[in-house]
Amino acid sequence: MSSKTPLSDAEAKLLSELNAGLPQDVDWKQGALDYVANILAQENGAAQRRFHLIKPFHSVYPETPINQQLTEFTREFSHCLNLLSILSVSSQTRFLDVACGSGWLAHFLAKLNLTVVGIDISPQMIELAQERLALDQIATVELDAFPHVGLYVHDIEQQPIDPGAQCDVAVLESALHHFVNPIQTLRNIADSLSDDGVIVILEAASDQQGDAYQAEIMERYDTLERPYSREQLVKALNLANLAEYQFFYPLNGFFPPVQSVADGVHYRILNDHVWNTVIVAKQSGGLARNLKVEGLCPVVMNVTNAAKSSRSPVAVESTGEIGLKGELAILRATAQRIVRKSIAKLKR
Ligand SMILES: C[S@@+](CC[C@H](N)C(=O)[O-])C[C@H]1O[C@@H](n2cnc3c(N)ncnc32)[C@H](O)[C@@H]1O
Repeated sequence: MSSKTPLSDAEAKLLSELNAGLPQDVDWKQGALDYVANILAQENGAAQRRFHLIKPFHSVYPETPINQQLTEFTREFSHCLNLLSILSVSSQTRFLDVACGSGWLAHFLAKLNLTVVGIDISPQMIELAQERLALDQIATVELDAFPHVGLYVHDIEQQPIDPGAQCDVAVLESALHHFVNPIQTLRNIADSLSDDGVIVILEAASDQQGDAYQAEIMERYDTLERPYSREQLVKALNLANLAEYQFFYPLNGFFPPVQSVADGVHYRILNDHVWNTVIVAKQSGGLARNLKVEGLCPVVMNVTNAAKSSRSPVAVESTGEIGLKGELAILRATAQRIVRKSIAKLKR
């Protein structure tokens, strides 16, 4: 299969929408290639190196409040664990860690005795990933402790991986928003998978083209940081001919058995699109064969349909906020609804 498909009008239209507003004349790939050298040359280069070798434990910045560090750690790890708990994985399953960076996900999958191929465009990221594996204590007691991990320099936007290394589950952890053409990237990933393969995309969603922090990173390093809305991602999947997918809401934590909290959780599952957590089948029927959950609807769950079909007992608009503010909006709406109902009852 060819690695490059000529741009259709619909694809060109979506790409210009995604890339509108980005600074012009920036070579984003060169930025990705230079990134490691740039961060290591900074004053805090040693801390940056350490961060990449131990991600997702600890932040680059020692002054980051421990609570915030733990939130990021919990999120990254929960994604990995949730994924493993929902997928039907066997000892034969081959994972493809797409844009693996310094390889934390590949490393942990390998520690679980799973077979992984990690790829990244940056040779220095791959070197860091190799170093990370070599530093693992187990490697000192057991030579070649990770025979089931392969780490390769590869530009997945350019072409699929070698057919000999074909995988079953491709994972993009915070990665898809780095590609200039995510549609071609998705096609090439699908072509890197067995017929029954699935692609897992885990990343923050946004209707905006990114926030001030992302703009600053782009300017400083020439690396692409522009998140997609749920609707844009759905369009990209369809254009890549990947028509079977299921979005999930990543929910982790201990929840007190209180109705208002349950209402908030219910509301978020149905309406909150702050994450694009999606599992995509390469071919029709692939979701049912690869997932362990019941009640799947392998159809497009786009924003409008989700909102229309919402049977949430709480009729409020999404605030788009997470954390306490969002909860408060939901609680306020619930209280208002109860008061309205009581007044209506009294009037009867
Ligand atoms: C946010 S970083 C690392 C994400 C990594 N999955 C993690 O969780 O640490 C994104 C990565 O995408 C890589 N990348 C960018 N363009 C790429 C391309 N065309 N092919 C492969 N990797 C690419 C970058 O080198 C970088 O390591």
